[in-house]
Amino acid sequence: MCGIIGYTGGSQALPVLIQGIRLLSYRGYDSAGVSIWRDGSLTVRKDQGRIEDLAPRWDPKELAGTAGIGHTRWATHGVPNIPNAHPQFDAARRVAVVHNGIIENDLALRAQLEADGVTFASDTDTEVFAYLFERAFDGDPVPAALELLKTCHGAFALAIQHVDLPDTLIAVRRGSPLLVGLGVRENLIASDMRPLVGRADAVIELGEDQVAIVTPDSVRVFGADGREVEVSTRPIDHSERDIGKDGYPHFMLKEIHEQPDRIYELLASRVDADRGVVRLDDIGISDERWRAFERVDLIACGTAFHACLYGAYVLEGVAGIPARALMAHEYGERAPRLDENVLVIAVSQSGETMDTKVALQIAVDGGAHTLGVLNVRESVIGRMADGVLDIHAGPEIAVASTKVYTQMLCALLLLALRGGQARGADGALLAELVPAFKKLPDDVRTVLARFDQAREAARDVRRASDMLFLGRGVDAGTALEGALKMKEISYIHAEGYPAGEMKHGPIALVSREVPTVAVATRGPTRGRMIGNVREVRARDGEIILVATDGDQDAPKLADLVLWVPDVHPLVAPVVNVVPLQLLAYETARLRGCDVDQPRNLAKTVTVQ
Ligand code: AGP
Repeated sequence: MCGIIGYTGGSQALPVLIQGIRLLSYRGYDSAGVSIWRDGSLTVRKDQGRIEDLAPRWDPKELAGTAGIGHTRWATHGVPNIPNAHPQFDAARRVAVVHNGIIENDLALRAQLEADGVTFASDTDTEVFAYLFERAFDGDPVPAALELLKTCHGAFALAIQHVDLPDTLIAVRRGSPLLVGLGVRENLIASDMRPLVGRADAVIELGEDQVAIVTPDSVRVFGADGREVEVSTRPIDHSERDIGKDGYPHFMLKEIHEQPDRIYELLASRVDADRGVVRLDDIGISDERWRAFERVDLIACGTAFHACLYGAYVLEGVAGIPARALMAHEYGERAPRLDENVLVIAVSQSGETMDTKVALQIAVDGGAHTLGVLNVRESVIGRMADGVLDIHAGPEIAVASTKVYTQMLCALLLLALRGGQARGADGALLAELVPAFKKLPDDVRTVLARFDQAREAARDVRRASDMLFLGRGVDAGTALEGALKMKEISYIHAEGYPAGEMKHGPIALVSREVPTVAVATRGPTRGRMIGNVREVRARDGEIILVATDGDQDAPKLADLVLWVPDVHPLVAPVVNVVPLQLLAYETARLRGCDVDQPRNLAKTVTVQ
């Protein structure tokens, strides 16, 4: 989704803005632009396409100046083109605005402004802000910014420049996150932490309906009532290393390879093997509460939803609480019955996904107990939920999620074990899982070391136009996730199904031209999976089988085998998804696709 960067200080703003745009580009974007104050005017440059192509076209002489704002746009209002790119400005170019989010009443505001003689130059809602700000501006930016909060409905984060305020940036926040980075005689505004790392030492997170007036030497923050508020700063702790590719050709491949370490850290920090307990004291659910829960609703979108399928499986099977996974955007369509004995778990990498946020609000309003299973604790969803379970995956830059998926699976299993403990489930399962947890990072490493088998399978499927992915039970979500990864980054049409569904329709698609990837590792569903594989073979379908080391039937049943180590069936989805991630990655690479930033997709989907 859109990204915001602003800079004011002693250095030239353009290189800082370009670098910021580069670091924000992982969010997905179709155009970018900057505005820079110079000699009593605002110079604006906007272009469509990738920042690598745009930056050389932006002339540092024409765009000289030490204060400016920049933006990456992911089209919502109006097609991706130069007039619709940000910054937007008023006709006299006295105000420049960059914006994340949506004005809900923009049509009414546009109509009013048009009636007053304004001719809009773009289809964006953002342009409205520029006119409203200029009309309210009397030399003091605070009342003008407050006027925007008063007049505009919706969720938005804004960075604004005014021609009469040479080194001042104005930040406004409602709903969408916005940060002010504090440097040495320079300050920045950004929609997330990445562009601030290495430039700012500390950060202020703007609160709801707050306005910040940012100059090189000062940051003043005001509440919606116009009074200055005291704000707390916190040091920036993300290391530079977390935002580099570490020698990998793509962020996605780097993130796939980070999985063993992240899994180790999460499990080691939460499982007390000596005492045989899972420690989740910080999520705010007492044993008494665990015992009172009558149902768990897991809500999420995309990859996080696939993690919820596993979460529902283990919360019901291990903790013994009826549990269901629901797509967040469907939650409000069904009027869920809620009360304090329902635990609603919102699972999200970003913690900003609008569909998940809206669904969580329904749970909050309905009086349910709420928990965020998140990679960004200090996010919109993190602030809304009663508690947060941090998955600790570290920043994920590639649009296609990989390491956050396996972390979500581990976190949800920990949660189920904790719930089981509190509800008096047999402790034997945890005792059984402790050795499985200990070797899990190495099991994932083993699959990573077998990249060649995924490479061979990728060479095989690279020309396919359709694929099927099948799994069952605990691995039903693995199949859906494998298919999602493939379609997201390689653009091969791929469908994932719980394998039992095949006979009820999808088997009609089977042919030699449609490769089927089947997950049939050791566990309770293997026999039935093999039955499904035989049905596909009988119809001349090509099979790529994910099978457990030592499975003697696998080579006879499959055209290609993606071997995985023998693991406990309950943690198998963590291992089984890895060859599918590698297969999607390699297929996309061979097809020449933009692996890290696939077309039409955004990392953080902040619109409904
Ligand atoms: C995953 O590869 C996708 N980019 C997408 O499905 C994503 O998982 C979904 O949009 C949810 O995002 P969230 O985890 O930030 O809420």
